[in-house]
Amino acid sequence: MDKIVIAGGKPLRGRIRISGAKNASLALLCATFLSRNEVVLENVPEISDVRVMIEIIKSLGATANWEKPETLRIKPPEEVSSGAPYQLVKQLRASNLLLGPILARFGRVRVALPGGCNIGIRPMDLHFKGLEGLGAELSLEHGCIRGRVKGRLKGARIYLDFPSVGATENIMMAACLAEGQTLIENAAKEPEIVDLANFLNILGAKVRGAGTDVIKIDGTPILEGGVRYPIIPDRIEAGTFMVASAATGGDVTLENLIPIHLQPLSAKLREANVEVLEGEDTLRVRADKPLRPIDIKTMPYPGFPTDMQSQLMAMLSVVPGTSMIVENIFENRFMVADELKRMGARIKVEGRIAVIEGVSSLQGTQVKATDLRAGAALIVAGLMASGETEICNAIYIDRGYHKLEEKLMSLGASIWRK
Ligand code: UD1
Repeated sequence: MDKIVIAGGKPLRGRIRISGAKNASLALLCATFLSRNEVVLENVPEISDVRVMIEIIKSLGATANWEKPETLRIKPPEEVSSGAPYQLVKQLRASNLLLGPILARFGRVRVALPGGCNIGIRPMDLHFKGLEGLGAELSLEHGCIRGRVKGRLKGARIYLDFPSVGATENIMMAACLAEGQTLIENAAKEPEIVDLANFLNILGAKVRGAGTDVIKIDGTPILEGGVRYPIIPDRIEAGTFMVASAATGGDVTLENLIPIHLQPLSAKLREANVEVLEGEDTLRVRADKPLRPIDIKTMPYPGFPTDMQSQLMAMLSVVPGTSMIVENIFENRFMVADELKRMGARIKVEGRIAVIEGVSSLQGTQVKATDLRAGAALIVAGLMASGETEICNAIYIDRGYHKLEEKLMSLGASIWRK
C-alpha cells in the first residue's frame, strides 16, 4: 500500500483539526533525555518519523508508551550504553538532535551518522561547532559520531554562521545542563525552537530569548522533569491544507493552529488573491476568485518556509501568468518540478530559481514522491488535476502527515491507498 491515488477536480470544503508539529515532536523526544523523571507529551502526531524516533530512544534505553492516542509517556534511561543503531538513524536526520542532550546528561554519546552526511562540512558543522564550543570532544569513528565531555559542559558564547534549526536546538538542549551561561547568537527563530525552550523551562531549565536571534541559557546541574506538555500544532501540515484549499477553489477552516505561525504563508496566499480569515486558533481559507501569480523566496523564520515551497509550486502551476520561487535554504529542493511537468506543468529550474508559467490544467498520471514535501505537493497537484493521479513512494508522505487521507476525505476529496 505504498501508493496514494486521487481522483482530482473536487474543491475541498469543511473543517479539520491540525495535529501536533512533527519537527517539535522530534526535538522534544530527544530533549526528554535531559530529564531524570518521566514526561508525558500530548498532541504527538502518529506519523512514521515520530515512530522511528520513538524506536531510536527506546534503543538507547528509554521506555515510551502511548497512554492514549497522541499522548506519549516517556521514561528516560538512567544510563545509555549502546549507540543508536544505523538501521534506525539512517531513516531520520533529526536523530542528530540526540547528540546534545545525551552528551550533556551522560558525558558521552555514540550515534550513527545520519544518512550520507559528511562530518565537518554541511550539514552538521554548526552542530559540531556549537557542541565543541561547550567543551565536547567529537569525532567520527566507523560511521558513528562519538562524543565525550570531561566533567560538565561549559557555557560559552556561540555564533551560528547560519540560523540552523537543528544546531540551535542541539546547542540549546546541551547548554541546559552546562556549567554557567551560554549565548547562542544568530539563533534560529522558528516556532519549534520556542516550543522546545518552553518545554525545557517546564523541566526546570533557564532558557530566555527563544524566538529572537539571541538565546540565553543559564545551565543547571539537573532537570527533574515530571511534566505533561502539549506540543504546538504543525504549521506545515496546516499550510499544506491551506494551499490545497486555495488550489482547488475550496473553502476550508483549519482548527487547533496558531495563526501567527502561518503569517508568512497567509500573506503570500492573500497576494495570490486567496481569502485567509484569522480566528483565535483557526484559519479559514477560501478561494472563489481567479488566482494571481506570485514570487516567493524561502528564508529562515519568519520568512517564507522552505517546507511550504513545493506545495505552492503545485498550486502556481495552474495560475495564469509567471510565478517565481527562489530557494535559499536547501540546494536541491526542486525535484518535484519534474513530476509536476509529467502532469502538464511548465516549470523551468535554474539552480536555486524556479520559473512557473501557469497552464490551464494538470492531468492525472503516475508520479513519485521524492521527499516528504514533494509528496505533499503531488497531493495538491492530484487534488487539482483532471483524472486519476497515482503517487508512488507514499512512504515519504507518511513521514509527516497524520491521518492525511482521512482528513482529505472529510473535506470531500476522493483519495485512497493502493
Ligand atoms: C529543520 C526542519 C526541516 C526544515 C529546516 C529548515 C526538523 C526535524 N527539520 O531541518 O523540516 O526544512 O529546519 O527550516 O526540524 N546547515 C549547515 N550546517 C549545519 C546545519 C545546517 O550548513 O550544521 C545548513 C543546511 O544544509 C541547510 C540550512 O543550514 O542549508 C538549514 O538547515 P537547518 O535549519 O539546520 O535544517 P534542519 O534542522 O536540518
